[in-house]
Amino acid sequence: MDDRGRRFLLRLQTGGTFHFHGGAVPHALILGSEEGTVVHSQTGARLACMRPTITDFILKMPRGAQVIYPKDLGTIVIRGDIAPGMRVLEAGSGSGATTIALCRATGPDGQVVSYEVRADFHDRAAANVEAFFGRVPSWLELRLGDVREAAATGEAFDRAVLDLPEPEGVLPEVRTALRPGGILVTYLPTTNQTQQAVLALERGGFAEIETIETLSRTWHVTERSVRPDHRMVAHTGFVIISRRGRD
Ligand SMILES: C[S@@+](CC[C@H](N)C(=O)[O-])C[C@H]1O[C@@H](n2cnc3c(N)ncnc32)[C@H](O)[C@@H]1O
Repeated sequence: MDDRGRRFLLRLQTGGTFHFHGGAVPHALILGSEEGTVVHSQTGARLACMRPTITDFILKMPRGAQVIYPKDLGTIVIRGDIAPGMRVLEAGSGSGATTIALCRATGPDGQVVSYEVRADFHDRAAANVEAFFGRVPSWLELRLGDVREAAATGEAFDRAVLDLPEPEGVLPEVRTALRPGGILVTYLPTTNQTQQAVLALERGGFAEIETIETLSRTWHVTERSVRPDHRMVAHTGFVIISRRGRD
């Protein structure tokens, strides 16, 4: 982070140099030092160096498909009750942002199975997940294919997370793959898609349906003034929570 709060995400490499508007910083100044260390570029600009948080990483990582923003990932993990040891079905993997959050939530005692129909997005998700964790977690399986294929595998999932344009088209198969009482989280960007999905969930044997929008506003706090920031991420999408009832 520079003195104006601008953030840069980089992977340190032996012999590497980071170039930015404030000059150049050899990676060797940072490698091996403690988190929070402050270094100076050759032209005197200051940089504070920290390991990235999941939020830093998701906002800066290369994208193929549009990612789910951290504010919504928080809602998905907590309202979807996704916990260590659970088996989670996901589609589509997209850029891997949601996959990263799900792997963190289930931990190594759980399992995440993520489907993606597009080979380029499947590869992008794998690269991002690997860059975040240092390797693809052993408890993650990235499958190139349609999430509807999960129904035929005989696997039973505790939770399912869908971020794809027409979830109603995959609901019967996802319901088959979810254990009774399992929770399905559906994420959609628009109201008309949300309405269609909720109606399809009602028809499709899902109960306790709840639609949530998460508004997150940062504030500017100084000695002289306390006010909301002028800019915010105003709209991202809607999170629909539902539960698989018994047949
Ligand atoms: C918006 S992106 C998902 C982004 C992801 N949640 C993230 O945070 O990076 C939606 C993805 O769903 C994939 N997709 C659409 N229908 C699918 C299906 N039936 N099975 C698996 N993937 C599907 C698309 O190819 C696309 O990559």
